[in-house]
Amino acid sequence: MKNIKFYNLPAFNKKYEKNFIKSFKKINNSGRYIIGDNARNFEKEYAKYCGSKYCVGVGNCFDALKLSFISYQILGEIKTGDEVLVPANTYIASILAVTAANLKPVFVEPDNETFNINVKNIRKKINKKTKAILAVDLYGQPAELFEIKKLAKKYKLKVIEDAAQAHGAKINNKKIGSISDVTCFSFFPGKNIGAFGDAGAVTTNDAKVYRIIKSLRNYGEQDFINLKDRKYKNIYKGVNSRLDELQAAILSLKLKTYPSELKRRQFISKYYFKNIKNNLIKLPSVNKKFSHAWHLFVVRCAKRDKLKLHLKKHNVQSMIHYPIPPHKQSALKEYKKLPLKLTEKISKEILSLPIYPTLKNQELKFIVKTLNKFK
Ligand SMILES: Cc1ncc(COP(=O)(O)O)c(C=O)c1O
Repeated sequence: MKNIKFYNLPAFNKKYEKNFIKSFKKINNSGRYIIGDNARNFEKEYAKYCGSKYCVGVGNCFDALKLSFISYQILGEIKTGDEVLVPANTYIASILAVTAANLKPVFVEPDNETFNINVKNIRKKINKKTKAILAVDLYGQPAELFEIKKLAKKYKLKVIEDAAQAHGAKINNKKIGSISDVTCFSFFPGKNIGAFGDAGAVTTNDAKVYRIIKSLRNYGEQDFINLKDRKYKNIYKGVNSRLDELQAAILSLKLKTYPSELKRRQFISKYYFKNIKNNLIKLPSVNKKFSHAWHLFVVRCAKRDKLKLHLKKHNVQSMIHYPIPPHKQSALKEYKKLPLKLTEKISKEILSLPIYPTLKNQELKFIVKTLNKFK
């Protein structure tokens, strides 16, 4: 078997080329390259897809998160230095968004089965300074959002969700993007719905937060639709994090085809569950009430590095999400001594297997055969 890639963007994106060129020509003729009709249409489509009232397109998920925290500061519900409970086991961007908004991340250990934030551990960390919970849907599996919301209600906390990896995931048939106070998405090229560059979005049912983020993404300027209505009035200290027309156009094209791609990801996950039979490899734990977006299929193995090497020897690429937990990164050295043993253990034992729509059945079969031979 020739090399099986961890992901193959050129092969996946090929089918969009023709329509993308058409969109490019249309946008060029329109002369409006940033937050025009394409961005507005995509925002409407994505809000509808998620079942939320509002969607704002932004530059990336990091900004989506940061601007969400800033919007609650503008509303006076969170203040500089307040504490945000964050999963210790996540990609560092989730945590950097908290520090970038001048808030204090308080690390919470994960659940040993799902690797998502452990709700029991959240409860233990709540104190007077706690103002929000950052829920991350790691690998595409929703966090325990309804349990988290119950706690948030009791202690008057905001729930900000990082769904960078979880487009189309559901809890009891309710889509991610319609559950938390604010949900943040990434359309980084390798994500389940990926642009041809950076892009992100926020969905919310809160009209106030929606209006503030819409303004913040454009230097805090009062929103306008037609250029002739622009007043150059700036209400907030905003940033430049706008969704451009080309990215919005490709995202609209991709949103249409996404349901069938998500089905393919689900098919691959089922195939792995049914056919990987090796006591050394622990398969992911999925909450039965949840519909997983299968951005990543992450197995656990005490001999992880050996397993990675074994796959490599058979030309199968794998990756580790993530090899160094955020609190062990030099960037966050002030947290390096925190006792986060489970997070550290997980980072040493996890391995992500290929899972993407263009992965062929024959390749899948070969990956499973290779995994089952591992000793
Ligand atoms: C869990 C998580 N949060 C946040 C981000 C940041 O997304 P972006 O690159 O769009 O800023 C990522 C991207 O990899 C992610 O996986």
